[in-house]
Formats: sequence, structure tokens, C-alpha cells
Amino acid sequence: MEPITSVAKFIREKDDFVIVCHYDADGLSAGALAALGLEHLGKEYGIFPTRQIDDERVEKIKDKGRNFLFVDLGSGQLSVLEKNFNSFAVIDHHETLERTVHPHFNAHLVGWDGAKEISGAGCVYEVFKKILPQFVEFSPLAIVGALGDMQDSTGKLIGRNKEIVEEGIKAGVLEVKRDIRLFGRHSRPLVQFLAYSSEPIFPGLTGNEEECKNFLTEIGISWRDNGPIYYVDLTHAQKKRLVTALYIYGKKHFLPEHLLRTLVGEVYELSREKPKTPLKDAREFSTLLNACGRHEEGEIGIKVCMGDRGEYYHKAELLLQRHRRLLREGIEFAVKKGLEETQYLFVLDAGKHVKDTLIGVIAGMLYGAQLATEDKPIIAFALDDSGMLKASGRATWLLVRRGVHLGKAMREAAERVGGTGGGHNIAAGARIKPEDREEFLEAVSYTHLRAHETRHDLVCRLLLE
Ligand code: C5P
Ligand code: C5P
Ligand code: ZN
Repeated sequence: MEPITSVAKFIREKDDFVIVCHYDADGLSAGALAALGLEHLGKEYGIFPTRQIDDERVEKIKDKGRNFLFVDLGSGQLSVLEKNFNSFAVIDHHETLERTVHPHFNAHLVGWDGAKEISGAGCVYEVFKKILPQFVEFSPLAIVGALGDMQDSTGKLIGRNKEIVEEGIKAGVLEVKRDIRLFGRHSRPLVQFLAYSSEPIFPGLTGNEEECKNFLTEIGISWRDNGPIYYVDLTHAQKKRLVTALYIYGKKHFLPEHLLRTLVGEVYELSREKPKTPLKDAREFSTLLNACGRHEEGEIGIKVCMGDRGEYYHKAELLLQRHRRLLREGIEFAVKKGLEETQYLFVLDAGKHVKDTLIGVIAGMLYGAQLATEDKPIIAFALDDSGMLKASGRATWLLVRRGVHLGKAMREAAERVGGTGGGHNIAAGARIKPEDREEFLEAVSYTHLRAHETRHDLVCRLLLE
């Protein structure tokens, strides 16, 4: 039976479910989609966001229901799941070599690239759309998940994600526009919109509201008129002027071309959400979810995904403020400390200065902050509460095209030192003992180097043939 059909059958036939989802934006969107689907089918369920599946987590959820549905995680832990659960299904987009006799729908198994063409939420959406054709109404959550996993990092969504966007547009629940891709088009007054830009960082403007006011005044855009003006309030001509001025400013301040190229691209809006809220823009929605999940409040994010705009939404807004502050502090720390540069990598050691649940997000922001160049991957470390070292790796599409696969590199390197690791080609993570740091980095560099070499060999062979 096709993987997607076997999972759909599992869902149709069973009841009393336990949904276990990853705790980041994509994971929470995936979990919420599964919950919405089960609710429509009139099934009982409980939902548990988690950072990873380990013994402690298994113990906590084991008795919560009869049938387990793992979403946006699980493909890499099939043997652990088989050992602990009698009845389960997995919907995931992380690459894996493991196989199981249980229902298992993974993007890569059907030829979709789970790093850039579809997210965990997208995969859950596909499964429920098989069972409930009216499920297209929830397509925005699949897009929120994809943006949470930064699958638009080339400037727009592609592959299955693009098709989901088209389905959403047809159903009247999504809109796509070509526009500036800075955070806060909807939710931040113009001055803060510019001053809080972190991806990319504009030297001189980022963090300096006065300079941002001057910048806007100079290009003839007022930022106040009986109250703050928002980016979305600007006329088309004003928007164009602002984008051009930012581009020129970026050039003048030597922002790398790859960052400037993606300054404008596709933005995705949820038609049914109120303008000027963090839910209107799918990327901002995903940041709100990260703010919940990465601060141990995943349930709040799930409630918001499922439609709450009252109590839980307000809690999520507060978490978002805290999240943005912690990210700002994390980047400031990285700027002050600087990165180590080795022959193959950039390395940031944040110790206890950055929460282990945020180190991945910070690692991803280091290119935009120009602390790293796009020709080497970044490995960032933080200590977790149990004294273990959390490593987050981030690469660029340039490196992936050259053959870098961080997921494989970090899995192999972590296993070599007795830890665990894995992930996508462009973004991966690991957990190791602090004393194994050097050996781990060496092993990552080695596999990384090997990837280059393999490609180099290939090129030589092709040239000789
Ligand atoms: O757990 P998972 O697949 O959901 O997360 C993927 C991670 O990869 C996200 O944290 C996302 O920010 C990161 N990513 C990235 N750059 C990309 C693609 C993904 O940093 N181009
Ligand atoms: O934790 P972080 O955001 O750095 O994770 C990046 C990617 O690596 C995510 O897709 C995550 O699910 C994956 N990962 C993994 N195994 C780990 C740690 C992270 O597959 N031990
Ligand atoms: Zn994911």
C-alpha cells in the first residue's frame, strides 16, 4: 500500500489517539492540523508537543491513549517507536534510512524533498486531504509550517509547497504577493519594522530607531500621522521607494548579494486573519508559534492554530515579545563574542548565554548578521539544563549544491562520540557531552570535507570521461 494511504487508513480505522508533534513552528502546525483533522472525524485525541523522543518522553505519553500519531518527527526514531508502542503511525519530512512495517508517510519516500519542497505540516495536510477533501481550508497552516522551517529561503516556496499555496488561493484562504520579506510588515510600526530587522541586519539602521526615522524622512516617507504608520499602510510607490533605498543602503554597506537578492520575494498572507496582527503574515505566524514551542508552551501555539483568538492568543503575543527579546540578546551576544573560524566551519559557543531551544534559531540568523559567510556551515553550541551540549548546524543553498549534507554529517559525528544527531541537508542538530566538542567538530569537518571531495572526484571523473 502507498505510504500515504496506509497512514490515512490507520487514521480512519482507529480512535483514541495521542498526537506527538515536534515543538517548533512546523511541528506545532503539524500537530494542530492533525488535531483539526481528528476533530472533524469525531475522534478522541490528546496532543503532546515535544523537543525529542527519549525515554522520559516515552514514559510520559505511553498511557495517554491507544493509537499514536507522530508528526514532524519519528522517521529517525522508528526503532525506538517500535520498541515502545504497539500501534502507531508516523508523518514526517526528515530524511531517514530507517524503515518500519507500521504506517509511515515520509516526504522523501514519495520523492519530495523534505528540506525545501514540503514541511511536516505539509505532509499532515496531504494525509488529511485524502480523507477530508474540505481540508484545503486549513492549507494556511501547512504554509505556516513551511515558513517556520524556512523553506522559502531562496525567496519563494517551491515544489509541493507551491501547489499547496495554489490550493489555498483557490479556496480563498491564502494570498501570495511579491513584497519585502522583512519581519513585521503587518505587526510593527514602520520605524520598529526597520530598526528590528535581523534578517538581514542593516549596519547603522538595525537597533537604531533615530537613524531609521532619519532614513525614512530622507526618502520622503513619514512614519507618523496621528499615530504610527505601518509598512502595509504605504502606497505602492512608497513601498517601491523604501525597498529601493534599502537595497542601495545595503549595497553601500557591503551586504552580500545573496542577502539583498532575497530582500524582495514572495510573501504569504492568511486571508481570514485580521490585518496588522502577527497572524496575517504566514512567516510572522510561524515566529509566534516558535515563541510558544521553544519556551515550553507549545499547547498555547496549538490552540492559536486551531482558532483561539482570546486567552491563548494573548498569552502567545506575550511569549512572542519575550522570544524576540531573547533572539535580539542572543545575536548581540554573538556579535560581541564573534565566531571562531576554522578551515571548514564557523563555530559559535554560547554556553549558557543562549537557551538550548533557541540556539538553532540564532545559528540561522548568523548569516543575516554577516557574522558568517555563505561558503562555510555554522555550528553553534549551547549548554542545556542537564549539562549536555546542544549543537545546531546551519548551511546555505550554495553549500548544499556543493554537496554538503549537515544532517548526515552531524548524525555521523554525534554517533561517533556516543551522542545523537540528524536533520536536513541545510539544517541539523545534535546532542553530545561537552567534553566531546572537539572530536565532534573534527568529525563534522571530516564528513563535510568528504562531501566536497566526493563532488570534486565526480567532477574530475566527468571531465576525464
Ligand atoms: O525540525 P525541523 O525540520 O522542523 O526544523 C528545520 C529547521 O531548519 C528550522 O529550525 C529552520 O529554521 C531551519 N532551516 C534553516 N534554513 C533553511 C531551511 C531550514 O535554518 N534554509
Ligand atoms: O535543533 P535545531 O533547530 O538545530 O534542528 C535542526 C534540524 O535538525 C531540525 O529539523 C531537527 O528536527 C533536526 N534534528 C535531528 N536530530 C537531532 C537534533 C536536531 O534530526 N538530534
Ligand atoms: Zn519540520
